[in-house]
Amino acid sequence: MSSRLCVVGAGWSGAVTAACLANLGHTVCAVDVDKDRVETLRQGQAPFYEPDLDDTIARNLEAGRLSFTSVLAEGMADADAVMLCVQTPAAATGEADLSALWTAVRALGPLLRPDVMVITRSTVPVGTNAALARHFRKEHSGTPVDVVSNPEFLREGHAVEDFTRPDRVLIGAADERAGKAAAALYDGIERPIIVTDLETAELTKYAANAYLAASISFINEIANICERTGADVSVVSETLALDRRIGPNAYLDPGIGFGGSCLPKDLSALITTAEAHGHEPELLKAIAHVNELQPKRVLAHLEEIFDNVIGLDVAVLGISFKGDTFDARSSPALAVIRLLSNAGVRVHAYDPMADGTADGQLEAPTQLHGDAYAAVAGCHALIVATDHSQFKELDLDRLGGLMQTRVLIDGRNVLDPDEVTRAGFSYVAIGRPQRGD
Ligand code: UDX
Repeated sequence: MSSRLCVVGAGWSGAVTAACLANLGHTVCAVDVDKDRVETLRQGQAPFYEPDLDDTIARNLEAGRLSFTSVLAEGMADADAVMLCVQTPAAATGEADLSALWTAVRALGPLLRPDVMVITRSTVPVGTNAALARHFRKEHSGTPVDVVSNPEFLREGHAVEDFTRPDRVLIGAADERAGKAAAALYDGIERPIIVTDLETAELTKYAANAYLAASISFINEIANICERTGADVSVVSETLALDRRIGPNAYLDPGIGFGGSCLPKDLSALITTAEAHGHEPELLKAIAHVNELQPKRVLAHLEEIFDNVIGLDVAVLGISFKGDTFDARSSPALAVIRLLSNAGVRVHAYDPMADGTADGQLEAPTQLHGDAYAAVAGCHALIVATDHSQFKELDLDRLGGLMQTRVLIDGRNVLDPDEVTRAGFSYVAIGRPQRGD
């Protein structure tokens, strides 16, 4: 059964959600205050790269199931349900900043008929959906409005795939009827649909990201122990992943730490929630602390190799928070660049997709180059800070020929140690025995 849906917020999550729900057969109108973004989307182009997203948008625009507008009343006309997909970034205090959500809710108020379901897709602290329900009930003189939690589990670079073939769909509702109505929106997606209460759905989203963060800080801690004992973390990781209780897709790739717009913010929001409710989250704080320390491992390696790093020219390949994405938000590569700059290193950076200057994250002393070879020319060392596919194809001999000294610190363990040492480099990886002289 198809529904008429209004999606509020056409950013990364909203645009993917709107396009994929239209693709399921619903009639979807996505609303965004950014008129340029609306215009781009109306042309069938998302203002950011996600595999298959432009095609999904264009196909459903063509079919008349998908539309975009900057006028909320237009989006809400005849809507059976409205989906809140606005950003809830981390505030300076670590808790979730819900200002955009409440701005959308206030704008929605006069347009919301009591029979229209409100579905919160944005990641929000436990208790937020109940507060929304109270707000709407008050606005409608006591008439209850269904508010449902439906957190997304989309990964950047895999968002359409993760929506279309999710591991599970999660629905939180105050009553079974609302839960079932929201679950029905996902008819056509043959995957487990968990229907629970609001608080459990809200907390589960944070728990999911905190667990992934835990796995990453765990393997980084193990890598640091490997470096001191001569063990090889890549074999440890491979062996753990063969355990059916851990699995082949476990987050066990060591590196310079986790970043992005979700894991760091959701971990800090969960810590804040725990503390606000009188629980001291020792483990969660340790996960965050290990992650804050991890970028320092790169500087430590550099200081072990060079007596004095002040004035060194070092190339950092990668600015994005993870491979094959444009996104530099909370990128550990930027943390590495800051640490090196502050230590007196002259940093030469290159990234094939992101440059971190858009939101002012890349600080001035860093020299930005147009390709990897220009970035390494004349440098004493090069650091791989993001696992872009392009970096696995670099001509190592050519790179080495351009450098003053052939030192390569692989912050993501993405290169082949044998190939790197054959090209004459001293090779340092995370948690693996050093190779070459
Ligand atoms: C994450 C969650 O995976 C997703 O389910 C949620 O909805 C949003 O947050 P995303 O932020 O796109 O998705 O990034 P992800 O691919 O999970 O990687 C997060 C960070 O961890 C990246 O910096 C990545 O480089 C790092 N990482 C990931 C590791 O360092 N090691 C790993 O084994 C996996």
